Amino acid sequence: MTENIAVIRGDGIGPEIVDQAIKVLDRIAELYGHTFNYTDVDMGGCAIDKWGDPLPEDMLKKCVESDSVLLGAVGGEKWNNVPGNMRPEKGLLRLRAGMGVYSNNRPAKIWPQLADASPLKKEIVDKGIDFIIVRELIGGIYFGEHKTEYTNGKARAVDILTYSEEEIERIGRIGFETARKRNKKLCSVEKSNVLDSSRLWKSVMHRLANEYTDVELSDMLVDNCAMQIVKNPSQFDVIVTENMFGDILSDEASMITGSIGMIPSSSLGAASCGLYEPIHGSAPDIAGKDIANPIGTILSAAMMLRFSFDMPKEADAIENAVSAYLDEGYRTADIMSAGKIQVGCSECGSLIIKNLKREE
Ligand code: IPM
Ligand code: MG
Repeated sequence: MTENIAVIRGDGIGPEIVDQAIKVLDRIAELYGHTFNYTDVDMGGCAIDKWGDPLPEDMLKKCVESDSVLLGAVGGEKWNNVPGNMRPEKGLLRLRAGMGVYSNNRPAKIWPQLADASPLKKEIVDKGIDFIIVRELIGGIYFGEHKTEYTNGKARAVDILTYSEEEIERIGRIGFETARKRNKKLCSVEKSNVLDSSRLWKSVMHRLANEYTDVELSDMLVDNCAMQIVKNPSQFDVIVTENMFGDILSDEASMITGSIGMIPSSSLGAASCGLYEPIHGSAPDIAGKDIANPIGTILSAAMMLRFSFDMPKEADAIENAVSAYLDEGYRTADIMSAGKIQVGCSECGSLIIKNLKREE
C-alpha cells in the first residue's frame, strides 16, 4: 500500500524523536512492501520563526490532505513571551481542531520490563496497570473564549468552558466502543458537584449507557480519579473525560507506568486521517543531545499503522520490536536503572529496527 504521511518534527527534541520513528516506518515499508511518502510540515515555534505563524494555512492544508500526521513535539521557552494566540501550542490546538480529531486515545500500560521504573509500590504495580484514557480533544476550556481585561490598571482574566450535548455524545460513544473492545468497563470522569458542563456530561453518558448495556458504566469525580490512579490503578479499563481533565490525568497515568517518554497517542475524528504524537512535550533542556527516549513517537507510528492504515500486523511488529529491545536491557536515560545498558536516542531507534521482524 502507499500512504502519504505529513511529518511535523516541531521543536526541542521533536526532530530527533521523529527521525527514529521514520527509520522504523522505512524498515516496515521494506519488510511489507509498502510505500510511505513523507511531506514536511512546519508547526509550532519553528513555524513562528520561519513564517510568523505557529500553523500557516497551507501547512494545515497539507495535514488535512494527508493520509495521517506524525508529530514530535512543539513549544519551548524561546516563545514564552509571544501573545497567547500566537504561541507554538496554539498551532497544535488549531491543527487538532482543523483536522477535526475530537477523540484522543492515551494508553497507560506498564511494560513488565519497566515495572521497577514505576514510582508506585510493587504490590500496586503487580495488580496490573492497563487502561486507556479517552480524552475529548477539540472542545471545552481549551477552545472557549480566552481574554484578559484591564480596569483601572487591574487585570481580570477569563477562560470559558462550554460543552454541547452533541460534543459529549460523540466522545461518549468512542468511550463505550473502546470499552466494548476491551474489558467492558467505562469510567466517566467529571466534576459534576461543581460544574454545569460536568452535570450535562454525566447525564449524556447515562443516556448512552442504555444503548451499550454490555458495558458497565461508572462515574467518578476528577479529584477522586486523580487519587484512585495512584491508589488502585488496576480498577480502570477505559476512562472517558473532557479536554482539560484528560490532559492532566493522562500525565499522571503516564508517570505510574514509568516514563512519560514511553506513551504514544492517537487522535481521530470522523475520517481515517489521524494525528499521532507522543504525549510528552518538547523537552528543550535535553534537545540536540541525542538522549531523548524516542519510544513514545515510535509507538505512535505503530498506532498510525493500526488505526489509520489498517495494518495491524505491521503495528504488532513494531510493538514486539520495542519489547525485544527492552528485554535486551537497553534503556534511554529517562528509564535507566542499575544493571541496564544506557543508549542514546538514535541508537535506541537502530536497536529497535534490528529487532523488527515480519509478523505473519
Ligand atoms: C498534551 C499537551 C498539550 C495539551 C499542550 C502542548 C497544548 O500538554 O498534548 O497533553 O495541553 O493538550
Ligand atoms: Mg498534556
